Amino acid sequence: VVSAAALTLAACGGGGDKADGSDGAAAADGKTLRLAINQTEDYPSTVALTSFGENLSEATDGRWSVDVYPNEQLGAQAEALQLVADGAVDLAVVAGPQLENLNKDFVVFNLPTVFKSVEHETSVINDPEITSELYSSLEDQGISVVGGFTAGMRGVYTKEGPINTPEDLAGMKIRVQETDTNIQMIEAMGGKATPMSFGEVYTALQSGVIDGAENAEPSFVTQKHYEVAKYFSYTDHLINTDYLVINSDLLKSMSEDDQKIFREQWDGFLDEFNGLWEESISTAIDEAKAAGVTFTEPDKEAFAEKLAPLVEKNITNDTQQKLLDATRAAAPAA
Ligand code: GCU
Repeated sequence: VVSAAALTLAACGGGGDKADGSDGAAAADGKTLRLAINQTEDYPSTVALTSFGENLSEATDGRWSVDVYPNEQLGAQAEALQLVADGAVDLAVVAGPQLENLNKDFVVFNLPTVFKSVEHETSVINDPEITSELYSSLEDQGISVVGGFTAGMRGVYTKEGPINTPEDLAGMKIRVQETDTNIQMIEAMGGKATPMSFGEVYTALQSGVIDGAENAEPSFVTQKHYEVAKYFSYTDHLINTDYLVINSDLLKSMSEDDQKIFREQWDGFLDEFNGLWEESISTAIDEAKAAGVTFTEPDKEAFAEKLAPLVEKNITNDTQQKLLDATRAAAPAA
């Protein structure tokens, strides 16, 4: 699949015939960009990215457009990220934990308690003064981060419930994203962490390979996990970030004007997404409740206490410390 995709890319993408001046590289005049995302068609980011593609096409007279491939069609996030690095896929949405596997400095945005609210998160992850070095830090690996948007405040959901305290998670296998900090997180909260990709979670819940998972309401519902796990507990243990990544060579091949248009359309994406996000939470809750899901408020303090030491433990260099300080400085006054 990868090599076929790469061949197609070589045939229709690559350099155009305009020189961009500075380094003599040819600037691409346009292309239909393939975008990988693991969410369903009706998830807010998929919807807003589809509009992003349409708007990009309109703003460039059809030269640049986007084909969105939802539901892990081009691979789970780890594979999609690799495909973008290789240039076989142009764009992908990946969650922070995936980027932490490429550069540990992303850890700062993946740790529990760092973001105080989704608003706080949104202001930090779109502030170039805080993020620009981080977002270009993967260029030597072929990845440029376009920007971030929230994946929401996460709760724990289980087949047997409800979860009220860390003790209730004892012995329970809870699916986490495939990364160290996520494993540490569930272990600290009292459960047994089982890392696996997003698309595997439904079957794992159904077959009993796992007892539960953790996510925000829109994923809990659009992935249909609520059909199997009927207890959603608002542990509020993590605010997670999704990123749009693009192949670095492709981005560099775009003319400056086109890069500017691309950025403007990205801002448009953020506006649309942020509007859809809030709405999708209440829709998800209604749908889950109608299907018999119980939402509960656990002892959040008990979980927060267990999670607090993770920050210090995982901040191990100056870059991370600076990112953390800037993030904390941007927090709204309590
Ligand atoms: C959220 C997030 C995804 C991520 C998923 C997960 O749905 O938006 O990017 O893959 O959580 O738990 O894997």
